[in-house]
Amino acid sequence: MTLLRVEDVHKSYGDEEVLKGVSFEMDRGDVDVLMGPSGSGKSTMLRCINRLTEIDSGDVWLDGTPVYGPDTDVNELRQDVGMVFQDFNLFAHLTALENVTLGLKRVLGVPEAEATDRAADHLAQVGLAAQTDSYPAELSGGQQQRVGIARALAMEPKLMLFDEPTSALDPELVGEVVEVMRDLAERGMTMLVVSHEMGFARSAADDIHFLDSGRIVESGPPEQLFQRPEHDRTNEFLTGLQSNGH
Ligand SMILES: Nc1ncnc2c1ncn2[C@@H]1O[C@H](COP(=O)(O)OP(=O)(O)OP(=O)(O)O)[C@@H](O)[C@H]1O
Ligand SMILES: [Mg+2]
Repeated sequence: MTLLRVEDVHKSYGDEEVLKGVSFEMDRGDVDVLMGPSGSGKSTMLRCINRLTEIDSGDVWLDGTPVYGPDTDVNELRQDVGMVFQDFNLFAHLTALENVTLGLKRVLGVPEAEATDRAADHLAQVGLAAQTDSYPAELSGGQQQRVGIARALAMEPKLMLFDEPTSALDPELVGEVVEVMRDLAERGMTMLVVSHEMGFARSAADDIHFLDSGRIVESGPPEQLFQRPEHDRTNEFLTGLQSNGH
């Protein structure tokens, strides 16, 4: 069953058309990876799904709801879409647990005790049961990112968006975050992931979409894109990634 449908999305900033008619679909439980060069429009595409950025034309549907429909409540929509950022975006003055309970209490109105229980469960799920009372500055980058994932999961979203979740991490910390994401994928979470981690894409992605200058040049399962790319541009890009150690 289709959970996300993106249809002919166009987006310009000033004179620059950043998305030039992007279309793709994801079924519930799918894990799709968006790859492409810097400036190709990957972050913009993610942001158009939860309306952090507004599209100029086209359509987006989430679970049957028209994201850009005149009657769509943007706040409700955003509760259904969890987002994990490159730079974690945690509150420095709040503990790991407080970072996770904040949205539960403020946005969903969950009472304190229940919010604490739920947050503790989500932190345990990402391997941070022992770090609930730590402040971000006391955590490694990998641990901070796992708090970011727990925070998004706590809202029980229908879809999780990841924007280069491991690219700010030291190489030795990438694995623990990828492991958590793989675990999430295995539990059936629908995930749209901007990442150049070939290992994650190869093992977890249903489809990879290669975006170049605002267009999806090629889409397909990892074995197809990595071994038999149809387009020179895809091949060039992926070969470049491999030689950079991704
Ligand atoms: N808020 C904005 N205002 C103006 N231009 C923007 C804005 N956000 C993005 N752009 C431009 O849109 C283009 C696509 O940006 P985007 O961040 O989506 O690319 P990206 O594929 O995520 O790149 P990267 O790999 O570097 O993160 C770039 O040329 C960028 O400068
Ligand atoms: Mg980006």
